[in-house]
Amino acid sequence: MRKVAIVGWRGMVGSVLMERLRQEGDFKNFVPSFFSTSQVGQAGPEIDGTVYELKDGKDAELLAEADIILTCQGGDYTQEMHPQLRQMGWQGYWIDAASTLRMNEDAVIVLDPVNRGVIDAALNAGIKDYVGGNCTVSLMLMALGGLFQQGWVEWISSQTYQAASGAGAKNMRELIVQMAAIAGASADLLANPATGIHELDRQVISAMRDKSFPAANFGAPLAGSLIPWIDRAVEKGQTREEWKGGAESNKILGNSESAGNFIPVDGCCVRVGAMRCHSQAFTIKLKRDVPLAEIEAAIAGHNDWVYLVENNKEATLRELSPARVTGTLDIPVGRVRKMLLGPEYVSAFSVGDQLLWGAAEPVRRMLGLALNYMA
Ligand code: HSE
Repeated sequence: MRKVAIVGWRGMVGSVLMERLRQEGDFKNFVPSFFSTSQVGQAGPEIDGTVYELKDGKDAELLAEADIILTCQGGDYTQEMHPQLRQMGWQGYWIDAASTLRMNEDAVIVLDPVNRGVIDAALNAGIKDYVGGNCTVSLMLMALGGLFQQGWVEWISSQTYQAASGAGAKNMRELIVQMAAIAGASADLLANPATGIHELDRQVISAMRDKSFPAANFGAPLAGSLIPWIDRAVEKGQTREEWKGGAESNKILGNSESAGNFIPVDGCCVRVGAMRCHSQAFTIKLKRDVPLAEIEAAIAGHNDWVYLVENNKEATLRELSPARVTGTLDIPVGRVRKMLLGPEYVSAFSVGDQLLWGAAEPVRRMLGLALNYMA
């Protein structure tokens, strides 16, 4: 059996990955070892009655014993260890949830329900670095993969509603601390049904604007508000998150400017007060006027996780929200309609769990593909 080194298994993405590996019975397919950068020698996870001792995640020689390294340890770790291992001549598969290597020419962004062909070609070509995509991009492609597959898409504009989890575990906590601060500041007024709504509103906003309002991680209130800025600035007024929409989607699909098949993807990325589901509203410009029923069939038929939500209030409230989707692999797509802008313009809305299809699941599945390939 192949040896798989798992690094960063305790963090937010890593623990979701571990849960999925257990759920799917994946551990029976390889010999795992667990690495840590802070708890070397301590007891690691227990799997089927075996408690694994944690090995040193900075020990390149030890890591190099593995056929596959699967890391959720983050970008700094990748930056430090990946070049070391490659310089040592390590020829194993590096499977990574962090963004560091994503745009490297000899790395593939993995999302197999969408780009299995690209992955298979890369495995056959001897490519050894496989990286999970940006969560918003992966979730968009899981939702709209059918339209891309048909070759109908001219461009897409995506307005996002991104959860706190995308910013990290501390941010998820801070969102709830902010909610609690607002609730605490308005508790007296809320308890009295006779309180005027303007008084309640003033109390809430004054708590949110107070210097003591807990916002060390987000830098601004998110609860009761939103933040239309994610990641750092890049060129042309975009944020890096917005830039990834075009760059990563096309790389996943195997498209490029030089091949003449680059599909523009751009929009405004916004952080909202959801915990771990990213939502997106799409404006899709098709190359021609495709009947709505064909559009719906292409979306729904693309993969096992995407499904259509009827464009009515009842179905939308039931199916199309972070509250409904969190913790599942479901990719509902709803509000699908032709826009008044013209018959080639389609509007749609989708929700997906940022830690599952947005992070852990594509790399978990890539581990399976690499193991199969090596078998
Ligand atoms: N960059 C994303 C976000 C998460 O901030 O929501 C990671 O892909």
